[in-house]
Amino acid sequence: MSNQSRIYDKNLRSKVMTSQEAAALIPSGATVGMSGFTGSGYPKDIPQALAQRIMQAHEAGQAFKIEVWTGASTAPELDGALAKADGIELRLPYQSDPTSRERINAGRMEYIDLHLSHVPQFVSFGFLGKLDFAVVEVTSILEGGRLIPATSVGNNKTWLDQAEKVILEVNAWQSEKLEGMHDIYYYTRRPPGRQPIPITRPDERIGIPYLLCPPEKIVAIVETDAPDRNTPFTPPDESSHRIAGHILEFLTYEIKKGRLPENLLPLQSGVGNIANAVLAGLNEGQFNNLTAYTEVLQDGMLAMLQSGKLLSASATALSLSPAALTHLNENIDAYRQRVILRAQGISNHPEVIRRLGCLAMNAMIEADIYGNVNSTHIMGTQIMNGIGGSGDFARNAYISFFMTPSTAKRGAISAIVPMVSHVDHTEHDVQVIVTEQGLADLRGLSPKQRALQVIENCAHPDYKPALRDYYQRALALSPGKQTPHLLEEAFSWHLGYMRTGHM
Ligand code: COA
Repeated sequence: MSNQSRIYDKNLRSKVMTSQEAAALIPSGATVGMSGFTGSGYPKDIPQALAQRIMQAHEAGQAFKIEVWTGASTAPELDGALAKADGIELRLPYQSDPTSRERINAGRMEYIDLHLSHVPQFVSFGFLGKLDFAVVEVTSILEGGRLIPATSVGNNKTWLDQAEKVILEVNAWQSEKLEGMHDIYYYTRRPPGRQPIPITRPDERIGIPYLLCPPEKIVAIVETDAPDRNTPFTPPDESSHRIAGHILEFLTYEIKKGRLPENLLPLQSGVGNIANAVLAGLNEGQFNNLTAYTEVLQDGMLAMLQSGKLLSASATALSLSPAALTHLNENIDAYRQRVILRAQGISNHPEVIRRLGCLAMNAMIEADIYGNVNSTHIMGTQIMNGIGGSGDFARNAYISFFMTPSTAKRGAISAIVPMVSHVDHTEHDVQVIVTEQGLADLRGLSPKQRALQVIENCAHPDYKPALRDYYQRALALSPGKQTPHLLEEAFSWHLGYMRTGHM
């Protein structure tokens, strides 16, 4: 099938141009809402053409930078290209690109790290200013400006609604059989006119399978034929296996106690290899007829759909390795009704997460002995990625798990610390902490009771004596006994790592 045939609305064919011509429409200083959520559904050509243009401007001594908003992280062709060209003034709401990270941490790029469910509503409330352009990858353009979304939905509905001008990339690589997998909800209103989001089951469809865009807003269409780019997951290591094992044991206990049904509750699984390993564990475990209400559908969940352990999965993006995506595309008829891709304002909606009672399982960088969690910063000041949807799920989940190996950097750093160097999830949003050493169930515990659980169950044996010693001295010497701390010492814990050159 030729690219041209993907533009079924003949009236729009006159808008087709090259990526260079489309990029030339975007001026310096513009705010651009781009599609993309992990390495899925991001525009492949225009960001690169724009990066070229920015570099040429810089070579000619002209300033040229834009603001880039997306669904979440993207791929080298978008974040990487624009960051390398030094073309991003401000980035939101999530990134994981090495060059962007380096520029942010060097103070050369502004970054706003937002809860992903906040983004669409903040934009429509006008909190973030005007959106000049939407640059959105789609699978096809149907009559009347109806768009078949690609492998992620993210904030595309919001960008198309709110941007003054729209540029579309029609990617012939995306399977046209994605049509029918998406569920786009068009009835959210601003307060005070808000109505309940009518999702009562993870697999419930409440919208239409298309994105809508007024044709008069579309100023350019670029045809592409380029693959998504998600990196393969590493096979679960011993540590991930043990983390998965602790979680499975805990879930079995919760069923026995009557606090969870036999088929659990809708799963939310975060990004990264550990989260993927937990899913692999669930796939081999004894639970059946599971469901997922989550943000990204990664390989582990696809394997569970394939095995039949998982009945359905609702997400905002397919975050699959190339091999898993090929499998999905080749068997898409079997998956189309069981996988639902929604806008991230709905996939991560606190109301729905609370109603469904999700089991939220997210990775972290470090936790402190009282249960506060740092998901985003290395040594308190350097951004790693961002909070993503972890906060949307953690606060509203039925049970919120945070997991990490007990040490980082080959054992040189303890992931359990007296006081986290940056707080993303407070002790009030964290119910269970898991490392390969064990699991701390913090429900119903006071701070002092929590500290004992976290140190004894989760810390690595090499760091237990120092943590026990810190806690005992804090208990004796802290002026307040609710959350005992020796502040100078708590702060210098991380400074010790920095002095030894680990960060
Ligand atoms: N101190 C210092 N560095 C640490 C550390 C610690 N306590 N823990 C991890 N790191 C470093 C690792 O060494 C690694 O560094 P490297 O890239 O130089 O090798 C890096 O942080 C990432 O760690 P890794 O073990 O590879 O973790 P991961 O891929 O499982 O990712 C998070 C962990 C927390 C970074 C990731 O899950 C994340 O970004 N979470 C926030 C967003 C989120 O939860 N989204 C899901 C919502 S649906």
